[in-house]
Amino acid sequence: MVDTISHDVLIIGSGLAGLRAAISCSASSKNLSIAVISKVQVMRSHSVSAEGGTAAVLFEEEGDNKESHIYDTIKGSDFLADQDVVERLVSNMPSEIYQLDHWGMPWSRREDGRIAQRKFGGYSFPRATYAQDKVGFYEMQTLYDTSLKYDNIHFYNEWFCTRILSDENNRFRGISAIEMKTGNFMIFKGKAGIICTGGAGRIYSFSTYAYSSTPDGLDMAYRAGLALKDMEFVQFHPTGILPSGILITEGARGEGGYLINKNGERFMKNYAPKTLELAPRDVVSRSMIREIQEERGFKHESGVDCLKLDLTHLGEERIKERLAGIREIGIKFSGVDIIKEPIEIRPVCHYMMGGIHTNLEGSTEMQGLWAAGEAACNSTHGANRLGANSTAECLVWGRITGELAAQYALKNGNSSITIPELQVAQEEKRIYDEIFRGRGQINPYEIKKELTDTMDDKAYVFRNEQELIAGLKKVRRLKEQTWKHVDDKAREYNTNFTNVMEIDSLLTMSEIVLVGALNRRESRGAHARTDYPNRDDRNFLKHTLAYSSTEGPHMTWYPVTFTRYAPVERKF
Ligand code: FUM
Repeated sequence: MVDTISHDVLIIGSGLAGLRAAISCSASSKNLSIAVISKVQVMRSHSVSAEGGTAAVLFEEEGDNKESHIYDTIKGSDFLADQDVVERLVSNMPSEIYQLDHWGMPWSRREDGRIAQRKFGGYSFPRATYAQDKVGFYEMQTLYDTSLKYDNIHFYNEWFCTRILSDENNRFRGISAIEMKTGNFMIFKGKAGIICTGGAGRIYSFSTYAYSSTPDGLDMAYRAGLALKDMEFVQFHPTGILPSGILITEGARGEGGYLINKNGERFMKNYAPKTLELAPRDVVSRSMIREIQEERGFKHESGVDCLKLDLTHLGEERIKERLAGIREIGIKFSGVDIIKEPIEIRPVCHYMMGGIHTNLEGSTEMQGLWAAGEAACNSTHGANRLGANSTAECLVWGRITGELAAQYALKNGNSSITIPELQVAQEEKRIYDEIFRGRGQINPYEIKKELTDTMDDKAYVFRNEQELIAGLKKVRRLKEQTWKHVDDKAREYNTNFTNVMEIDSLLTMSEIVLVGALNRRESRGAHARTDYPNRDDRNFLKHTLAYSSTEGPHMTWYPVTFTRYAPVERKF
């Protein structure tokens, strides 16, 4: 008999979306009991690494307006964003910024004392609200501190969730999880759930994601029969440092930084003459790879091709005031002081536009289950996200899903939850018989290395059919090998065990990304096919859905919602 813990609402993941959801859920009713379940300590959630900004329209009297934020986001998305969703994001954002301010967020300030905003790529107005270059850290700290004021929020740190449990009517009933401290396998019962577990960018080796930020939540949703949407759209941020891939914020270019090639040229003038370094990320990353292909790049000492980000003209004072975090990163991880010299950078996997298919309100296809933040794909970002819109999305849909889950749990207050015993038994078999006591011969960490190197090689900024097929064959070969086993047999903090489960989820997500990328025979946003270089609205102005099947991902399509803006060619 498996031990059970009961709460009304289960929030899986403790990053920005999870904490914002917990607060709004708790604020909706003191009578609800809310669990935030996370495989890490709250302040180790990957959201703490967000650097440059959170987008919102704050200065209408100085020329900004919501219509412009809406249009910039839709144009940035290459017209794949659902336009009603973008409207919801933009109209809800200003109050989220002020709400954080009231909760104690140390936003950077202008000389007149008002909240400061900086330029970011793809926006027609400087609307990235910032706190130095540590936005995620301060937002997390503010939300965590606020959440501690609510007695009905219970934190379960270092619990690894493994399966979503549902009944025969496709209603959410809870989740199974391993308490990492003891190794105990337990069941959380809940009337409502919200998945806020982040994205899948660790399928690449060169990635800005924390090593702990793996797609466990996406994998759980997929195994529970839910669709993953638009997974082929992977964002490559232009400025990852070498060799680690750690992010140098777009705020550096927002503050006036230049991208230069080996001739010292600001090459973006040849690709985006109006916006230069502040074109959207997909455009800048492609331009960088073209420079490298045409042999105008630099060689990093590791042998990797790269370009340079020059911030030296910004001056010591400005860098120390606004970009102190990336200066420290540059010194510690690349041995470069950005005050004194340009730093070597290269496009790096940074974000997944895709995720668990949800509607405008964050509802998934399972009753009583929502998803928010990067784990969700409510279609805010379409084929390419604008920087600073992701922390924004976490806040808006954290709040919305928290409220909706609260209402749902209150409405279903009297219904008792029966745990589907068969699913629990199947899950114990999967994780203990197939993984923990698995007979695999091959080292799982070698599988991971081969997988992430394959994704770097075959599904990077530019893609084509031949390479994608080769990548897919390789990933499927890796999946089929007998690799599942756990050498460490300890119960307590068995990270070998959780790593193997994570690697399993990385393999599944890679397969979905590759199949989606092969099926989409066009170039749109971050998905650039050299064999189909044009956007094809007639055939592909639609979302991709991937469902789990015994033969691998079963792909279907889903319509895009338009309100006002017909697709046009993007020019920057
Ligand atoms: O460059 C950055 O600071 C990243 C921001 C984002 O991805 O939204």
